[in-house]
Amino acid sequence: MEIRVLAGGVQSTEDELVVINLFEGVEKPEGATGAVDQAMSGAIRELIADGDLTGKRGETAVLYPRGAIPASRVVVVGLGQQEEFTLESVRHAAALAARKARDLGAKSFSSIVHGAGAGGFEVAQAAQAVVEGTILGLYRYQELKNEPPDRADPEQFTLVQFDESKVPDVEKGAEVGQIIAEATCLARDLINRPANYATPSDLAELALEITGDFDSLRCQVLDEEDAAELGMGSFLGVAQGSEEPAAFIIMEHNAGQDDLDTVVLVGKGITFDSGGISLKPSEKMDRMRGDMGGAAAVLGTMLAVAQLELPLHVVGLMPATENLPSGHAYKPGDVITAMNGKTIEVINTDAEGRLILADALAYAARFEPEAVIDLATLTGACVVALGRGVAAGAFCTEEDLLARLQAASQSSGERIWHMPLYDEYKASLESMTADLSNTGGRFGGVGASAMFLKQFAEGYPWAHLDIAGMTFEERSSSPKVPAYLQKGGTGFGVRLLAQLLQDWSS
Ligand code: BES
Ligand code: MN
Ligand code: ZN
Repeated sequence: MEIRVLAGGVQSTEDELVVINLFEGVEKPEGATGAVDQAMSGAIRELIADGDLTGKRGETAVLYPRGAIPASRVVVVGLGQQEEFTLESVRHAAALAARKARDLGAKSFSSIVHGAGAGGFEVAQAAQAVVEGTILGLYRYQELKNEPPDRADPEQFTLVQFDESKVPDVEKGAEVGQIIAEATCLARDLINRPANYATPSDLAELALEITGDFDSLRCQVLDEEDAAELGMGSFLGVAQGSEEPAAFIIMEHNAGQDDLDTVVLVGKGITFDSGGISLKPSEKMDRMRGDMGGAAAVLGTMLAVAQLELPLHVVGLMPATENLPSGHAYKPGDVITAMNGKTIEVINTDAEGRLILADALAYAARFEPEAVIDLATLTGACVVALGRGVAAGAFCTEEDLLARLQAASQSSGERIWHMPLYDEYKASLESMTADLSNTGGRFGGVGASAMFLKQFAEGYPWAHLDIAGMTFEERSSSPKVPAYLQKGGTGFGVRLLAQLLQDWSS
């Protein structure tokens, strides 16, 4: 979809469909909504007075101007209570309006910048949120369907800004929003893509392909032999049960620029998690094609970082493999050795994410980074603790890094919740035969998993985000789900990381 920014009044826009908004409780709309109302001789005020339009969050109303303005349809989207209004409300409203435009068959549509007027947000931030909501709201996973969907996507979206002096900020925000939203859609595609279409080799190929599009990017793919030479016995232990060759993918933005801060992103890339010999129940096992949601977020972020040309050295590490049972598979009780020399007793082959991350975190140290952040669909226990689609669990060894993450979470709208790294979790990982075991007991599973990772994240500030409950939206569209999410992959992490890295470099 092409995205444009125009100066002018939305009431005079030559477009099939225009989107305006309304806060709850407003009886006499002002600004752009007021201008359209006036051009339509008070049609909006009338709807409000009749109670057919309330401005509630999630509400959309369609009006037909019949020549009063150039557009043939007006969509009014409700913004809810002004006191509760956030950038998340902007994304939600923009997504609803965009879907409405598509449902109505509009080829092109335009919108005012929700939140830039009475909402009180910085114009660039508001424009970014509108574009993010629009693109993410229209997202559908179609690549394996032969029949096109009933309604085609609109081809053009225009942001209209009345105050000409604000147009440059709208343009800037819209551009950033488009970059971040499209990178999120890439991550969504990877999560939704079946495991037989998104193998470790497929991910590696895609990483190389994206790298080819940018001068700032470099990519190296380590195969199993390379990994063996590096001593990545933990990563290879998981990989050995699968016929699909594993790949350890390394992407770098601004490699070799020693004057820049270095941030390493690590993403769990289990392209399918059957549990291995500790086999999972078959119900909903198909969801485990999304067990590379961490790697998808890192890949998407690398794309965004390259497009934003951020003055930072960003490294993306994506250990990718399947976790399958076979005659070659690692078994409960086996002991494997990670790259940093630590021996690990495999109590449960389904606790495989931490094993591939162990080697990636050890590998990260060679970049002497200012920070390492890993994202992983790591534990069901985190979902039990924080809920589905509510927040990611955030573990961190340094206050500064945690503060940066929390600030980025606030402005991106991707929620994280700080979790503790108490020493007690370490005790639950004691092993009879090795330095540590890969699972603790029945209780405190999310803390134990983070404490396990901490044994390999040495020599740098480190944060771990458990995104198990955030990567895959289980619910279909409903008032309870933000409209920019659909059932399936969410791409969680791209917005958060892109925001963190933007803040870091500014
Ligand atoms: N990939 C799963 C975690 C998961 C669960 C992600 C639900 C998304 C939704 C992970 O590899 C796993 O199997 N974890 C085990 C760990 C246990 C064996 C200690 C779990 O959470 O049950
Ligand atoms: Mn598992
Ligand atoms: Zn897993």
